[in-house]
Amino acid sequence: MKKTELPIVPGLEGVVVCETAVSCVGHEKGLIYRGFPLDKLVRDCSYDQVAYLLMYGKLPDDTEEREFMRRVAGGRKLHTIVKQAIGSLPRTTHPMDVLKVGVTAQGIAFPEQSPSARSARKIGATLLGALPAMLGFFRNAVLGELLRKEPKGDKPESIAAHALRMVGEGTDAAAMGRSLIGYGDHDLNASTFATRVCASTRVDIYSAICAGICTLYGPLHGKASEDSLDLILSFGNLADAFIGIQNMLVQKKKIPGFGHRMYKHGDPRSGIIKKDAWRLCRERSCTELLKIAEVIEMTMFAEKHLYPNVDFYTAIVYHLFGIDQHFFTALFEIGRLPGAIAHIIEQRELDTLIRPMARYIGSQPDEVLHDTNSV
Ligand code: COA
Repeated sequence: MKKTELPIVPGLEGVVVCETAVSCVGHEKGLIYRGFPLDKLVRDCSYDQVAYLLMYGKLPDDTEEREFMRRVAGGRKLHTIVKQAIGSLPRTTHPMDVLKVGVTAQGIAFPEQSPSARSARKIGATLLGALPAMLGFFRNAVLGELLRKEPKGDKPESIAAHALRMVGEGTDAAAMGRSLIGYGDHDLNASTFATRVCASTRVDIYSAICAGICTLYGPLHGKASEDSLDLILSFGNLADAFIGIQNMLVQKKKIPGFGHRMYKHGDPRSGIIKKDAWRLCRERSCTELLKIAEVIEMTMFAEKHLYPNVDFYTAIVYHLFGIDQHFFTALFEIGRLPGAIAHIIEQRELDTLIRPMARYIGSQPDEVLHDTNSV
């Protein structure tokens, strides 16, 4: 078939471009990580264990978990290069930009000498400690906010507890862990695909992670959680929410936190996080917020048959943890990091450059040369 006859698939919808053993999305068994159903992992495992599972392909035994967490904790002590880079940023910097700068600086401070699966796992564990620490350092050194002290104990703080302490006031590390597990991996979502494209050029791990951070930042992707909170808070009562959503739909606006390329009958992560949102709202006697969210959910279903995705109720949970909404996407990035590392490892093993084609629809030389000659 000639190049001009090959079909174009907008957004690569339905196109399978590689095999993966990391996660499976949208099949009859629901979302699974390395063969384990998401609800089982949420019920029985910590985020630390799930991060290890995604990166190593198996759940850790006690010794493996201890060694992994020792490396994660080591990553929390930021290098001077990283602190200088983040410390020089203006107060208005978005936390996703902090992570871009921080990960780039980390790659300069601790370069990956020869990219391999081993170095990806080693550096990946360090980044799981470093990324939350970068956000905490930014809050403290640039925004002048006080961070809570690390609780005393023999074991290093869990990734979820550390992340929560770095970005907010909440202490419910178990709920934070559940949200990070939900973000863990999602086959070839846009940011993981960008990460794999980058890794396919045999680049270092930091560059590939940065490609993922840049892609996750978009409103159609990770930033939907920040935008969801704006939306929910913009309505003063249930009637406002009902009318407001209808008006937005009439104006053909996209409602953040709704719809998903892979889930046409509901996102399995949404129900898990919604339970936490309800519990936290009841504990804090602020159920009005959740009732408004539910009116939005009902209106979206009635009008468009669309369901909330993972980001919608996560926005409420993070808000109730006292986290500034600009940090929401950065937390998503921390949750997605183990999946990204696992995909970098798979891509390195595959060692094939990802390089699709475009169909040229621009001018032809005779048109251009004709125009140029007539000038
Ligand atoms: N609000 C309003 N309409 C929506 C919508 C939303 N959030 N999501 C999808 N739709 C509508 C589209 O307008 C389109 O309607 P049409 O056929 O009448 O034109 C139809 O549903 C298909 O949408 P499309 O954008 O082509 O689907 P997609 O699979 O390419 O997009 C998303 C998936 C996630 C990009 C899309 O649902 C979206 O923009 N959601 C909001 C952002 C978001 O929450 N992102 C986080 C995803 S985890």
